Amino acid sequence: MSFRIALLPGDGVGPEVVDAALVVLQAVERRFNVKYETSRWPIGGVAIAAGQPALPPSTLDACQQSDAVLLGAVGDPRFDHLPRETRVETGLLALRKALGVYANLRPAQVWPSLEGVIPFKPERVSGTNIVIVRELMGGLYFGEPRGLEADHGYNTMRYRTPEIERVAEVAFKLAQGRRKKLLSVDKHNVLEVSQLWRSVVTRLVAKFPDVTLEHQYVDAFAMNLALDPRRYDVVVTENMFGDILSDEAGAIAGSLGLLPSASLGDGVGLYEPVHGSAPTLAGKDVCNPIGTVGSLALLLRYSAKAEDQAVAIENAIGSALTAGCRTVDIAEPGQPSLGCAAMAKEIAARI
Ligand code: IPM
Ligand code: MN
Repeated sequence: MSFRIALLPGDGVGPEVVDAALVVLQAVERRFNVKYETSRWPIGGVAIAAGQPALPPSTLDACQQSDAVLLGAVGDPRFDHLPRETRVETGLLALRKALGVYANLRPAQVWPSLEGVIPFKPERVSGTNIVIVRELMGGLYFGEPRGLEADHGYNTMRYRTPEIERVAEVAFKLAQGRRKKLLSVDKHNVLEVSQLWRSVVTRLVAKFPDVTLEHQYVDAFAMNLALDPRRYDVVVTENMFGDILSDEAGAIAGSLGLLPSASLGDGVGLYEPVHGSAPTLAGKDVCNPIGTVGSLALLLRYSAKAEDQAVAIENAIGSALTAGCRTVDIAEPGQPSLGCAAMAKEIAARI
C-alpha cells in the first residue's frame, strides 16, 4: 500500500512553500524510484473564506486517514477580529491536539555557507546545531481555566507528570543519537509547574544514564542561546517557552524561513515550517521554501522511515546553499536572489 501524505497548504505563503516541497518530493520519487500519494485539504483562513471552520471536519478526517501531514502555514489578517474559538490559529492548535502530537522537534543549524548573512558573529555561532523539543499539547496554550472578561484575562500553565515524561523521553532519546547533551528549560525559581517539570525530567536520567542533563531558567537560556549557541545539543521545554525560543533559534540560523519542524506523537506526524503565513510576502514568489523542504525531509525520516531520502534532501539543501542559491531573506547585500519556486528547483536538481 502506498504512503499517503495529506497536504494542508493553508494561508499566505503556505501554498507556495508546499508547492516547492512537492517539486522536491517529485525529485525524490525519481531518484529513489518510489511513489507517494498526496491529497490537498483546506485549513485556516482559506477554509473560513469558503464558509467552513478553520479546521474543517473533512480535513481532520483526511489527516487521520493519512500516514503523515505536511502543512504550509495558517494565519490570515482578514480573520484576526474573530473570537479566539474560531480564529485560524485555533484550527491549527485543534489539529495538533487531535493528532496527539505532543513533541515538536525544531532543529536549527548554522549552514557554513550562510555565515556571511547571519546577524551574529560567525566566530561565535558557526557550527551551531541544536534541536528544540517543544511540548505541543499542554501548558499555557491549552491550560484551563482560561478566559477573557471585560477587565479580566487569564490563562493557566499546567502540566501533569505523564505529559512531561513523554516529551522528555523523546528529547532524551534524540540526545542519545546526537551529542548526548540535554538541556531542560523552565522557570523553576518562580513557577510551581516548573518545579514539577524539573523533578520529572531529573528522574528520567536514571533511564538515560548516557545523557548529560542540565537545567536553565528560560530567561538565562534566552541570553545564553544568543551568546554561545554551540554549547547546546537538544533542548526540551514547555509549549510557550519553546514557541519563543525557536524563533530566536531562527535568528541565529540567519532566517526563520530556514527552520523545519516535526510534530510527533503516537500516531500520524505533522510537519510544518516554523515560520508563519507571512501575508506581506504571499503570492510574490519571494519566500524561502527551505523550512518546508526541510520539514518534508523530517516527514520522510520519522513517518516514512526513509532515512536515505531524508538525507538526500538535507544534502541537496546544503549543496544549493553552498552553490550560492539564495532567496532574498538569506542573500547578502548585492547578491542576486531566487524566487521560492526557482529555489525549490535548485534543490530538486541536487537530489
Ligand atoms: C508556531 C506558531 C503557532 C504557535 C501559531 C501560528 C499558533 O507560532 O508554530 O510556532 O504558536 O504554535
Ligand atoms: Mn511560533
